[in-house]
Amino acid sequence: MDQTHSAPKVLVTGGAGYIGSHAVLELLAAGYRVVVLDNLSNSSAESLRRVTELTGKPAPLVVGDIRDRGLVTDLLAREQVQAVIHFAGLKAVGESVEQPLAYYDNNVNGTIILLECLAAAGVRALVFSSSATVYGDPQQVPVPVDAPLGPTNPYGQTKAMIEQILGDLAISDPRWALGILRYFNPVGAHPSGRIGEDPRGIPNNLMPYVSQVAVGRLAELAVFGGDYPTPDGTGVRDYIHVVDLARGHVAALARVLARPGKFTVNLGTGRGHSVLEIAHAFEKASGRRVPYRVVGRRPGDIAQCYADASSARQLLDWQAELGLAAMCADAWRWQSDNPQGYGEAS
Ligand code: NAD
Ligand code: WQD
Repeated sequence: MDQTHSAPKVLVTGGAGYIGSHAVLELLAAGYRVVVLDNLSNSSAESLRRVTELTGKPAPLVVGDIRDRGLVTDLLAREQVQAVIHFAGLKAVGESVEQPLAYYDNNVNGTIILLECLAAAGVRALVFSSSATVYGDPQQVPVPVDAPLGPTNPYGQTKAMIEQILGDLAISDPRWALGILRYFNPVGAHPSGRIGEDPRGIPNNLMPYVSQVAVGRLAELAVFGGDYPTPDGTGVRDYIHVVDLARGHVAALARVLARPGKFTVNLGTGRGHSVLEIAHAFEKASGRRVPYRVVGRRPGDIAQCYADASSARQLLDWQAELGLAAMCADAWRWQSDNPQGYGEAS
């Protein structure tokens, strides 16, 4: 795509966050212009400064909330975007059980307000961050995109509700172009080591926890359950490199810009890896030890989940390219180059 002012401009909500910052980088590399709206509730503006450093292109940030109708309306009037990639949301499963109203308000209400502002501005192309969590405990693996939904926590409910809202919106007005992307387990970092995942406090998710054990910030990994019906007894997931995931958004954006209608795809590699495989692959990539202890199962966890990603291949001509070794090597480079995340820089 050319680099002139005729290149489409994209609003990226939540674009300062982990996946959003990697997507902004890939969008700029593909020739799109961007404007980010993020309230920085779980991120730092430093991520976007580094995206500009890496790409040599502007990644302007508006600090604000998707629920701020006046701010979103003004932004859309000013920026004249052609499409939106909507990452903004709260994503911690455990926290969503403790604070369901905060999750329904931020994720569901926030998305409704954003969609109302978009409709009023005549912007009807949107890519939405959904999650494999909408499947709950899947009846079959690999999980086909038409598998029944059954989220088991408020966070997952918000994703399923937003999917429902987007489906009804597409029916109400066929001019909408809506892409629903169900991510499996995003991990890793940009290979430069300049941007990556920077969780606040002790990580909930496996890969950032393992990284912090390897770098010496945490003592040992607690493996949640060694008695699942899986090859080594530990949980199996479909880990997808965040750069592959970001590129999936570029492909989805091209589609929503090209044609109306709604589509839903799984974004995963189609391969499952166990917790112990991750720990061992990380030791290999980092040259550090990852001491672990098997403890009881984490409530709400499932044995295994990995994607049938054939719909993404068919509809988006996209498939994951990067394997577990790259995921661990890139996560390690980010962690070892930035042991405190963006902490000192932000
Ligand atoms: P993240 O927390 O790093 O990014 C989300 C961003 O949205 C943050 O920068 C946060 O400050 C911002 N934000 C939150 N609420 C906002 C609001 N009301 N207004 C403006 N900005 C707001 O998380 P991530 O891992 O990059 O996830 C991005 C999206 O992908 C989320 O919607 C998440 O639910 C979804 N998702 C993530 C995963 C995962 O494992 N990381 C898996 C599946 C789906
Ligand atoms: C992976 C595996 C754990 C931490 C979550 C959300 C999901 C999606 C992705 C947003 C499991 C095990 C973990 C640890 C461990 N997010 N584990 N010790 O649970 O598959 O998915 O993130 O949409 O909605 O639920 O990912 O990284 O937490 O766990 O043994 O300290 O690692 O039991 O088998 P999960 P995870």
